[in-house]
Amino acid sequence: MRTHHCNQLRESHIGQTVTLIGWVNSARDHGGVIFIDLRDREGLTQCVFRPETPENLGPEAAAAHQQAFVTSHSLREEDVVQVVGMVSHRLEGTVNDRLPTGAIEVVVSHLRIVNKADVLPFQLDKELSNEDMRMKYRYLDLRRARMSRNIRQRHTITSAARRFLDDAGFYEVETPILSNPTPEGARDFLVPSRLNPGRFYALPQAPQQYKQLLMVAGLEKYFQIARCFRDEDLRADRQPEFTQIDIEASFIGQDDIITLVEGLLGAMFKAGLDVDVPLHFPQLTYREAMDTYGSDKPDTRYDMKIIDLADIFASTEFKIFRGTLDGGGVVRAINAKGFAGITTGQMNRLNEIAIQAGLPVKTLAFIKCEGGEYKSPLWKFFTGTEQQAIISKLIIEEGDIVFFGAGTLDTVSTILGRTRTEIASMMELNKNSTAFNFLWVVDFPLLAHDEDTGGWGAVHHPFTRPHPDDLELLDAGAYDKVRAVAYDVVLNGYELGGGSIRIHEKDLQAKMFQVLGVGPEEQQIKFGHLLDAFRFGAPPHGGLALGLDRIAMLIAGEDSIREVIAFPKNNKGADLMSHSPCHIETKLLREVYVQSTWKDPKHAADKAALPPLAD
Ligand code: AMO
Repeated sequence: MRTHHCNQLRESHIGQTVTLIGWVNSARDHGGVIFIDLRDREGLTQCVFRPETPENLGPEAAAAHQQAFVTSHSLREEDVVQVVGMVSHRLEGTVNDRLPTGAIEVVVSHLRIVNKADVLPFQLDKELSNEDMRMKYRYLDLRRARMSRNIRQRHTITSAARRFLDDAGFYEVETPILSNPTPEGARDFLVPSRLNPGRFYALPQAPQQYKQLLMVAGLEKYFQIARCFRDEDLRADRQPEFTQIDIEASFIGQDDIITLVEGLLGAMFKAGLDVDVPLHFPQLTYREAMDTYGSDKPDTRYDMKIIDLADIFASTEFKIFRGTLDGGGVVRAINAKGFAGITTGQMNRLNEIAIQAGLPVKTLAFIKCEGGEYKSPLWKFFTGTEQQAIISKLIIEEGDIVFFGAGTLDTVSTILGRTRTEIASMMELNKNSTAFNFLWVVDFPLLAHDEDTGGWGAVHHPFTRPHPDDLELLDAGAYDKVRAVAYDVVLNGYELGGGSIRIHEKDLQAKMFQVLGVGPEEQQIKFGHLLDAFRFGAPPHGGLALGLDRIAMLIAGEDSIREVIAFPKNNKGADLMSHSPCHIETKLLREVYVQSTWKDPKHAADKAALPPLAD
């Protein structure tokens, strides 16, 4: 149907007759001469329909030329057309240097309208803020240059990942989508089984157990571009179905996985952006990350580090700080340089965020340095020595504003961490999309106390190996002190991936389940297959999973993974184009032994918005 793509023709093709096919990107009438930009997935070519018939044409060709000219007046944006014509120089002054094909045009001698397009619901060459509209007509949205570039770039980095892992000796293996619940911290999507009344499959939150079983099976190196499903609250970097580059290997340690993933990310960034990322990424322990940035996925493109002030206030008269320090708490602060001009609205927003993060009072304590004065409700409570020490430790200069946190270590870290992130976004410190600050966070805690149940939960998942130096602490029940051999890779404030070295011994795994409150009977029911497998010569193994959508988002310079997923869901988990999820006829539900108890009247409006039910 074509001799060339629309990005291919150059001056060297001048004089050749070519056939192109694609969409009319734009059409314009310049004094009776019709110009169209013809678009296919590769690019644009200007095609021109001239009224005058070239002299040397036979009667048939002359008629076709005339017909093409007449028909060209009816061309509208997004019509699909095929043209045959001669590649020619553009007239002087009309060369377009920004277009690879900008030096030439195709003078059309034959035009075939393949399929007419209706008027589009929105223009493709303009940004559209109405995301619902974009989602409803996603197939049109994907025609836009930015989206088509994102999809292509995602393909490029996915292929690079496949090549890299293949070269490194990894086998690509598919694991089941219909499986059992696997504990990754989210809710499961359930699928009823018609052949097994009353039973359900769960869609995998991650192929975690299968990849470990592949290690027991002796594969040694596995990867999968794996679709994962998690029923959790959605946001810009979370979708209910998303893709992991899932990796597992045997006879390796943490350093091997780290080196492998550094190389893998290097290959993906090279392929996607032609950027050379550092050979090795800096490493922070979880404790360092929390103490310095108040986050286990710190954005290090900007500074604003958390500074400990315990030494300054060790013997302060200021009661609140004194009491906190005496009670084993911490007093810390961040200096938002140049942000003293913060608006009331911004201040209110920061207070809201700090309260959500656990601030027990209504406002964050602060000091502003403006016009050579230190303005703060607190300033007068500090001695001159304390004031000088604060100024010098936090390097407070004209235009700065400092925020304090006093309380338990975890609460203060969280409050100051979230305040730091929010200030960075208010000051647009996080807008530099060409800086790629990769880092590893290592030595995560193994367990976290669950306030709701009073028990302990796994910080990563129950298959994570306790740190070899902390096994005695585990035995002694000092669960809050046990570290894991677990690591996350972070880029510009996003968790790109996480993994761990695993438990491969049956007894240790059973013990871990026990600590997590899973008794022997439940262990057998839920994880009997894994515990069994560990009886038959399980190799030491470990791995990691990268979030492909997040990597594609950062490479594309986008703010949401929805921009790099062909058909994403909105924040309510719905696909506005196909109206998924949909109601299911009672007859179909009966066949899979499911009865719906859904009656909530407050959802009546949503129900009305869905297509009519068949039953
Ligand atoms: P984890 O749960 O940390 O680890 O997931 C790995 C990576 O997957 C991405 N990710 C998501 N991306 C988009 N939407 C979501 N809802 C979503 N949830 C997670 C993140 C994350 O870092 N089985 C372990 C890995 C292992 O231990 O090997 C796991 O799934 O980028």
